[in-house]
Amino acid sequence: MTLSLDFTNMMAGALPHGAGITEEQLGASAARFRDVHTAVHARVADLGFLTLANNEVLLQQSLAVAEAVQGRFDDVLLLGIGGSALGPIALRTALCPPQWNALTAEQRGGRPRLHVLDNVDPATISATLARLHLARTLVLVVSKSGGTVETMAQYLIVREALAQAVGDGAAKQHLVFVTDPEVGALRRIARAEGITTVDIPSNVGGRFSVLSPVGILPAALLGIDVRALLAGAAHVTVSAGTSDLAGNLPGTFAVLQWLADRDHGRRVQVLMPYADPLRDLALWFVQLWAESLGKLRPDGQAVGPTPLPAVGATDQHSQVQLFMEGPLDKTVTFIAVRGRISEGRIPARHGDIPELGYLGGHTLGELIDIEQRATAGALAARGRFNATLAIDAIDAWHLGALMQTFALATAYAGDLYGVNAFDQPGVELGKQFAYALLGRAGSESARAEWDALPRPDPRYCL
Ligand code: PA5
Repeated sequence: MTLSLDFTNMMAGALPHGAGITEEQLGASAARFRDVHTAVHARVADLGFLTLANNEVLLQQSLAVAEAVQGRFDDVLLLGIGGSALGPIALRTALCPPQWNALTAEQRGGRPRLHVLDNVDPATISATLARLHLARTLVLVVSKSGGTVETMAQYLIVREALAQAVGDGAAKQHLVFVTDPEVGALRRIARAEGITTVDIPSNVGGRFSVLSPVGILPAALLGIDVRALLAGAAHVTVSAGTSDLAGNLPGTFAVLQWLADRDHGRRVQVLMPYADPLRDLALWFVQLWAESLGKLRPDGQAVGPTPLPAVGATDQHSQVQLFMEGPLDKTVTFIAVRGRISEGRIPARHGDIPELGYLGGHTLGELIDIEQRATAGALAARGRFNATLAIDAIDAWHLGALMQTFALATAYAGDLYGVNAFDQPGVELGKQFAYALLGRAGSESARAEWDALPRPDPRYCL
């Protein structure tokens, strides 16, 4: 079980034409990292994600609910958005067999399908509800704040549909709320109506919550080895106990991306797993990196890298052209899965046709691995910054390790950029305008600000 980082292709020695991070820059950052490390780990009481992997009480809450409902439901419908949805989606895609929701109950080992409504698009919601047999559906309402507009709208619609399908009283047996232990509308409803809840600790924010019941409860329902998931994360947290940059993998990832942005203009940061099951991990990372780091610093400077998801080898026929020859403003971090080399033997047929003949005898695992290494080399040959995170296998342990690596790296990067990685003030104004337009009480000043905005100018409307 290993997770390793090769960042040779980020460094000046490996890249042509004077490109790359210098030893001096990295050395100077090592001293800075010591302070960052001390500051982040000193906040362990506030940064609940640091200790989630060892929280047995919390784990037991999810396991108890999963056990209590086992066999009663064919489908789990998760309502949530942002950090309350992206983690569960990433876990399902990575750790359930492909096409999970299309498998039979027997093929799923009696475990339920998982559907995630992470938007308020009416077409998606009505199509999902039309397909589900609600009498056999468990609904997880996931919201840290317990009041997010999209999730509350989903809840109201789904609760109504449940009531119609099974009756108002029985509907409660189909609901589990995953929310803050004390505050929020969901918590109030749960108290008033006796709805089962599991806690998102108050010191764990949305995009850092995947290893809380936000991710662990759906994972347990799907039969994912949640203990292995947490063990992978715990392993990373322990090994990130050192403030020595050379021994701290999440710290090294954070420092490299920050240096690449600050000193080399590489402000677009691509995460490119060479594995279909990790596609949604890249989307989860995008939210983590973007919402945590794209901020106004206290001195008024706007900072933050722009994360971009890609997947190999698919994007070799799409975005890689841009990565190779477009602006020199990107880093690419590959995720390679080294343990699959022997999988998917390619038959030796058409040996006399040059375009096919050379493939026979190789494997798909080998092909995808070689393509990853070839792309990394090609980018390096053109002075394009890239690094490779390698794992042995796509399993619960390695997923936990990867997710905790990125969560820690985000916390460190927040300090490096001089921003608070754990808030999101930039999303507030749009929310307030939406509340004002929906007539929510208390949004009068947002309404006034909205009304003062310029209206569409006919000269600029076609
Ligand atoms: O990372 C965050 O804090 C946000 O993206 C939240 O996850 C998102 O806004 C949903 O919030 P909540 O879980 O409170 O419904």
